[in-house]
Amino acid sequence: MTAESAATKPVRSASDAPRVSGAIPWVGAGLALLQDPTAFFQRTRERVGDTFLVEGFGYRLFCVFSPEGVKSLWALPEAQASKGVADFGMLAHKVPAELFAGRRTFPHMLFAREDVEVYLENLAAAVDLELASLGASGEIEAFAHCRRLAHRMGLASWGGRAATAPARIERLIAAFDALDSSESFVHPERAFRTWATGKRREKAALATIESIYAEILAELPAVSPDGAGNEPGFFDRIRAAWQDEGGEARVRGIARDVVFVHMGSQSNLFAAMAWTLVHLLERPALLAAVRAGDDALLERCAHESIRLRQRSIVLRRILKPCELVDEQASYRLEPGLSLATMMSVTNTTAAPGLDRFDPENYRGPLFQRARELPGKELVSTFGHGAHYCPAARFSISAIRIATKAMLERFELEPRFRDPGPLRRQIGGVARADRPCRIRYSRRTE
Ligand code: HEM
Repeated sequence: MTAESAATKPVRSASDAPRVSGAIPWVGAGLALLQDPTAFFQRTRERVGDTFLVEGFGYRLFCVFSPEGVKSLWALPEAQASKGVADFGMLAHKVPAELFAGRRTFPHMLFAREDVEVYLENLAAAVDLELASLGASGEIEAFAHCRRLAHRMGLASWGGRAATAPARIERLIAAFDALDSSESFVHPERAFRTWATGKRREKAALATIESIYAEILAELPAVSPDGAGNEPGFFDRIRAAWQDEGGEARVRGIARDVVFVHMGSQSNLFAAMAWTLVHLLERPALLAAVRAGDDALLERCAHESIRLRQRSIVLRRILKPCELVDEQASYRLEPGLSLATMMSVTNTTAAPGLDRFDPENYRGPLFQRARELPGKELVSTFGHGAHYCPAARFSISAIRIATKAMLERFELEPRFRDPGPLRRQIGGVARADRPCRIRYSRRTE
């Protein structure tokens, strides 16, 4: 869209778009949206077109699904259409507010420097520990298993090696599961319980994590400015960011930075790992090729699993007046409005056959069929533009290492049929709508 062609379009206000507001005042369309967001947006699109305004629970959500509309959403700068403020609005229902204040380490900082060797080593060590704990044979549930694996792999990367010691890891996993911010968009219906209990459970979990980090930090020598003797990995960078503080402030600062990074990871990583395993188990020929060593195929399966199972709403809060352009008009968006598209709607419909799993859709991280799309932003795994996921490479490495180890070390027999995505989910990679049990037995060398 050139500035010239945008200028020739009629300028409208957000309220001029078709409005979807439901029959009950204040509740509006909110209930139908929460029931099954993907189906709601798809139905609404078919009924009123690709750009519309949804009103419910006091929110006004300007939704775009057309090629120009989605492209325009991704291009809006943070200062005008904020992802940070929108995320805060969604997570604040679940996460204790004190966690957001005073953070010094953000995932971008950790992943900007490519400590690939070190993080791969930490990831492999974490997988070894978790798989050793499975014993010779038994049954796992794919998502529960990958959740534990991702906790271990994440903490081994940014939580310090001491966090993964047997005496600590179980307590940390329980606390992180209680704190899990992704519950606010995986199970939005549970927000009321969290609110009604004053986030008691979540605050207790945060206190537990802080007390474990007090123990860990008491055992470690100070980080050295020249790096000599430091633990390789992200944890010492978090520690270094708090070097000028002492006592409780330092412990709390470090613990909360670890929690903040880990919560970002909990939204997506384990679910993407679980779908990759599930899709491979459903396709014995692909599984055999991966087991024979085709790592590139395994990575393509991971990207394709994320594409197909993405349930992310892409949400922005308008902070300054700005314009959103679709094929017909240029809409003036005012502060207070939210702007959204949803990946699960466009990822599976933007070209024929995208509702099916096909690893040929990817070459490395590249979506091969981008040219067939009316707009390249209509398909996304890790986002686009300025907000592209800083942990994308890390995550694909984590999925490759975990899945490969699982397939090499165990015979796996799926005990599930045809799992689909959880319908109510409105963010992150889908959780499954049923248990995905897998029987395993250790392979002999
Ligand atoms: C398979 C795993 C993952 C998937 C599919 C994924 C997906 C995404 C997507 C789609 C976005 C853009 C969202 C938007 O613009 O609204 C994003 C951003 C982000 N992701 Fe990930 N992510 C994954 C793993 C992780 C992990 C492991 C971490 C942290 C350790 C992380 C931290 C972040 C952060 C901090 C952002 C915000 C970037 C920004 O606003 O500039 N992600 N991710």
